[in-house]
Amino acid sequence: MKMGLKKKGLKKKDPVEGVPGKRASMKEVPGMDGIFKRMRKAAAAGSVALAIAVLTGACGNANAGSEERYVRIGVSVYDQYDTFLMELMNDFNSFVDSRKAQGIDIATVVQDASRSQAAQNEDVADMIENDCGVICVNLVDRTAPTEIIDLARKNDVPVIFFNRELVEEDLMQWDKLYYVGADAFESGTLQGEMATDYFKAHPEADRNGDGSIQYVVLEGEAGHQDAIIRTEYSVDTMIMQGIILDKVGYAIANWNRAQSRSKMGQLIDSSDTQIELVLANNDDMALGAIEAYQDREIPRDEWPAIFGIDGTQVGLKAVEEGLMTGTVYNDSAGQAKAMEALAYALATGVSPADIELPEGIEMTDNKYIRLPYEKVDREKVQEYLSK
Ligand code: BGC
Repeated sequence: MKMGLKKKGLKKKDPVEGVPGKRASMKEVPGMDGIFKRMRKAAAAGSVALAIAVLTGACGNANAGSEERYVRIGVSVYDQYDTFLMELMNDFNSFVDSRKAQGIDIATVVQDASRSQAAQNEDVADMIENDCGVICVNLVDRTAPTEIIDLARKNDVPVIFFNRELVEEDLMQWDKLYYVGADAFESGTLQGEMATDYFKAHPEADRNGDGSIQYVVLEGEAGHQDAIIRTEYSVDTMIMQGIILDKVGYAIANWNRAQSRSKMGQLIDSSDTQIELVLANNDDMALGAIEAYQDREIPRDEWPAIFGIDGTQVGLKAVEEGLMTGTVYNDSAGQAKAMEALAYALATGVSPADIELPEGIEMTDNKYIRLPYEKVDREKVQEYLSK
């Protein structure tokens, strides 16, 4: 890829912040047909015995010498309503289903942490206690993996962190810790390149003709590696490629479409000048920006260029309809495939040196699997819609 992208893990010095939030009662992650536990709810209702019974039947570890030789994979997601994660987990589940179709006794236990690190820690403890052979963790607070790491290590259960990247020092704490995701630098760079190409091809998109592009940034969660890095690389790439930028607004919308819709609305209403470019850290926030223009009944030909990242189904549809100018495909299917293959290998006791990953997927430093991002504009969108 371009610009000598950094391939190493994140360092402690990268800006970080936790994600506060309340935990709802346990719910099944939409689209999951994996086994889903309601043990906390059951326990709260005094049904501890029931919760334990459900779990005892559900988890097991082919690696632990169990006679039944079944594989159980625990998965904890930070927020079941996150569009990108929903797609990733749907894909993950399909890969598990294909293995089942080959006669393998495999199942997943999926928990929604509802943005609470404490709840996630508890869920992981339950999964470990109930013999899941491997745990996949989408950290709520990517700076707070220690409790999970300590517990996993004590019980010798490998952990695959995914999507929300912990710092390198934490991942190095034990050799059975892995990370599956993508390279945030790359997504920002590709978004910046797409926006640059667009303005070079469409000089009229500089609506006031002042030679600089008035832009706003819609940023994901404060402290998330993809938010900080995407913004920085997108803007820097445009500047390095000769576009003069003039920042007229900024909002943190936490990856969320509704928050983005309202914050973008405020930016439109308060800006003295016409916004010519919206750089959104993900598709859901780009869609929120589109809705803000639609809410105000601003004609489409007066909208700015709007770029997202992810290539979710809804994002791709918006590109197809010409509402979103472009997006950067964040390969949820590839990440799900890599995670499932690695989880299966680890749960069945394959030694790290012998793990065979699906074609085209590589592990670096015996730790990291990163899938590449790809640019998607209206010309290429059909290819991605039919993936
Ligand atoms: C995705 C976002 C998602 C976030 C969750 C990012 O990589 O682009 O859409 O909300 O991960 O951690």
